Amino acid sequence: MRVIVADDYSAQSREAADIVEKLVRENPQCHLGLATGSSPVGMYQELARRCAEEGLDFSRVSSVNLDEYIGLEPTHDQSYRYFMDTNLFDHINIDKKNTYVAKGVGDVEANLKEFNEVLNSRDTDLQVLGVGPDGHVGFNEPGDHLCCSAHAEVLDESTIDANTRFFASRDDVPRGAVTMGMGGIMRSGCLLLIISGSNKEEAARQLLMTDDVTPKCPVTFLKIHKNSIVIITKELADKIGYKG
Ligand code: GLP
Repeated sequence: MRVIVADDYSAQSREAADIVEKLVRENPQCHLGLATGSSPVGMYQELARRCAEEGLDFSRVSSVNLDEYIGLEPTHDQSYRYFMDTNLFDHINIDKKNTYVAKGVGDVEANLKEFNEVLNSRDTDLQVLGVGPDGHVGFNEPGDHLCCSAHAEVLDESTIDANTRFFASRDDVPRGAVTMGMGGIMRSGCLLLIISGSNKEEAARQLLMTDDVTPKCPVTFLKIHKNSIVIITKELADKIGYKG
């Protein structure tokens, strides 16, 4: 696991964008695994700027997203399809036909079947990740075991709490989601984790300050991936006593 300590969120976003840019320039037909949440927003803005101003070309890139809330239409402003369109896809020259975000409405089993077919058809070259306060990646919540394939999850109370800020009220936060499993995540050629935001100390500490790999903190699985990169701000590194 390579760990980059960045001065602040802007530097963290630029470091992450550098890694994605290098891949896209070396392999213009690369397949990206993308994530939602606040953590990658700065990186998406930086990639959009580089596309507009520096000729970074996404025309042959394809993507698949980690997860989607169950019950939200793609047009809902908190759906992850809407998030990806408004935070990235509408600002780069990617062909939206080559972007996949799992369906959140309709028959859950049929949606999962389709999601797994997409995931099994091609592994991603790079998977962008954030982490939840409880250590979840995608929506793989902590527990006694993790699932390999794409599946439905009931969200933890702490995840509902963390995501309430995006909704009018806590009651509006969906209680379930479909998510890529740990298998789909771990099969990626490179994992790129951006740790940012409040309440991430415990997840960061489990990842960087212990040797444990445990389903009780899913992000710890990054330790056993052969090419994982963690970008953390200096402020958070200092808080958990990480010295590199
Ligand atoms: C959600 C998403 C995760 C994301 C997490 C952290 O639960 N499903 O993929 O990593 O939020 O989000 P944030 O970056 O906003 O803290």
